[in-house]
Order: sequence, then C-alpha cells, then structure tokens
Amino acid sequence: MTLTLDASAVLEVLRPVQDPELQKSLVELNMIRNVAVKDGDVQFTLVLTTPACPLREFIVEDCEKAVKTLPGVQSVAVEVTAETPQQKAIPDRQGISGVKNIFAVSSGKGGVGKSTVAVNIAVALAQAGAKVGLIDADIYGPNVPTMLGLEGAGMTVRPGPQGEELEPAFNHGVKMVSMGFLIDRDQPVIWRGPMLNGIIRQFLYQVQWGDLDYLVVDMPPGTGDAQLTLAQAVPMAGAVIVTTPQSVALSDARRGLRMFQQLQVPVLGIVENMSYFIPPDRPDITYDIFGSGGGERTAKELDVPLLGCVPLEMTVREGGDRGLPIVVEHPESASAQALRIIAQNVAARISVAALTA
Ligand SMILES: Nc1ncnc2c1ncn2[C@@H]1O[C@H](COP(=O)(O)OP(=O)(O)OP(=O)(O)O)[C@@H](O)[C@H]1O
Ligand SMILES: [Mg+2]
Repeated sequence: MTLTLDASAVLEVLRPVQDPELQKSLVELNMIRNVAVKDGDVQFTLVLTTPACPLREFIVEDCEKAVKTLPGVQSVAVEVTAETPQQKAIPDRQGISGVKNIFAVSSGKGGVGKSTVAVNIAVALAQAGAKVGLIDADIYGPNVPTMLGLEGAGMTVRPGPQGEELEPAFNHGVKMVSMGFLIDRDQPVIWRGPMLNGIIRQFLYQVQWGDLDYLVVDMPPGTGDAQLTLAQAVPMAGAVIVTTPQSVALSDARRGLRMFQQLQVPVLGIVENMSYFIPPDRPDITYDIFGSGGGERTAKELDVPLLGCVPLEMTVREGGDRGLPIVVEHPESASAQALRIIAQNVAARISVAALTA
C-alpha cells in the first residue's frame, strides 16, 4: 500500500510532536493549521501560545523533522504565528475587556531594578510581536516615562462608552500610563497616598487599552496599598519578584512572595538583577559584587522558578536614563539577552497556567 501525501497524512505524522511546555500533542492543541500539500511541497501554520515562545525554533525543527519522514516530501514551509490564551477568571475580580493577561513586577525592597526589568520585559514582549501595555503604579518615584523615552509626554482624556477615558502614551511598541503624568512630583507623598487606590483602578478600567496580550504593572517597592489594590481588583496572571543577590534583598523578596501567595496571585518566578558586574572596558571578566547564587537559592527554597539573572552593566542605566531600554539600544548585550529570556519565560509560564487545568 502506498501512502498518499496529503493533509491528513501530515497531521498524522505531526500528532506525536508535543508542545514541550504543555506536554501535549500540537495537533490536539489545535496548534497546527492550514495544512496544504502540493507536489511534495508541504506547508502549514504553527500557532504558538505566545509570540515570545522561548522554544519556537525547537518546535519548528521538531515539526519539520517529523514531516520529512513522510515519503515524497520535497520541502516543508512552516508559517509561525501566535494566539496568546486568556488567563483564567477569578471570582469577585473584574477583568479588563480586551486584556488577556495582567502581571505585576514587584519587589520587597526599593531600587533593585523593578522598573528597569518591567520596561525591558514589556519592550521585549512587544519586539516578539505581542500587544503590550504597561502601568507605572509607583507614586513614590514614577520613572517609567523616562525609561520608555516618554518624559514630557502625557495621556489624553477622551470620551469613551463609560465616561471619560485616558488614551495611553506609546513608545517602543508599548502603551503606557504613569502616575508621573498625573501627580505633582513636588507634592509630598503623604498627600499622594490616598489618591493611589483611585488612580490604580482608573489605570485598569478607564484607559483605552484596546486588545492586549500582556498588561505589565510596575509596582512601587514594598508590600503596601498598591499591591493590595491591584490584587483585589483584577484577576492577575501572576507576579514577577525582582531581587538582588544580597541577603537583605532576598529576605524582602520572601516577604513579597508570601504577600502575593496570600492574595492568591501566582508567583511566576524570581528575577535576580545586578547579579554580577560586567566592566564596560573588559566585557570578558565579571565581578560578583553582591555575592552570587542568592536568587537561585531563594527560588529553590521557596519552590518558585528562577526566571533569569541580569548582570550589572553601565549601559543598562545609561539607556534607562535616555529612554532607550537596553533591549532596544544594545540587543546583543548580556543584559539584553538575559532580559529577553526572562520575558520569554514569563510569557511561557503565563500560557501554561492559562491552558492547564
Ligand atoms: N542590571 C542593571 N545594570 C545597571 N544598572 C541598573 C540595572 N538594573 C537597574 N539599574 C539602575 O539602577 C537604578 C534603580 O533601578 P530601577 O529604577 O529600575 O529600580 P526600582 O526597583 O524600580 O526602584 P524603585 O524601588 O525606586 O522603584 C536605576 O538607575 C537603573 O538604571
Ligand atoms: Mg521603580
């Protein structure tokens, strides 16, 4: 019996190929579509569960290998697209229409690099092709506008179906709203505090976000009102905890982690920032200024994944000050590579959580 090379033969041979993260058949997950065969030329669409899929190349390669085992195949062309799944609903929490996944970037301690990590994750996800929004929820030091190259920009108020809505600012592929656009920087923090709850809710529900795969929230340091307001309002896909290798920063990270767990917000993992120093004039050597392995130890101890380690590089700060995130300005640098991998890991964990029971 000779096998006909047609779409169903292609689907059959692809059936055993699994999504490595979901550990399920790509065919059963409906990730293989539009199969067409013409004179030994096979083409199909592979629909990934996130545009920032860390295993994109492996999956494509697995598919190609499998199809090439069919007799008569001359060529295989795979078109890769993505459909980000919607995070699960949580009772008593109101989602934002059109926004699929909301996650926070948080830390117990200030100055560990939350905003830097949040901005670069957001831009890296947008670079991968995702639709991304970013909320700067820091009333104490809103510096996302500067880091995203939007200093001096603003948000426009427009009439919407439910009254007035804010139109976010936009740069590097990311829509963004910031406390910095609303508050007077010279106003004492004690006056800003009571505004916080209202502004966060406004940033969630009264912004023209449109369709978003990911909405990233850059939190103020600590375990305070902003974290509580956010977690109690919207269903969250999770929280990313940023820490540095120092033990004091780690004990703060632990506190943050417990708070999110108590609020039923899944912790997506830990990012260790300023892991080691790369001197600009000697990129071949590294210094463990704050000690080493702390993020890994904490991740193990708390049983959450280590999403990645970002080195301390002067270009990270310089880019941040000039509104050019490192993943834009120096995409090949060690820190940009680390931040892209972190963004991919976050996206992959969010998809797995959305698609598994
Ligand atoms: N990996 C890095 N390499 C070099 N500089 C960095 C790195 N990460 C952060 N920085 C710099 O450290 C400073 C603090 O970072 P950032 O503002 O992101 O921290 P934060 O945790 O958001 O602070 P805050 O608690 O005040 O909100 C910034 O000047 C930033 O550019
Ligand atoms: Mg910050």
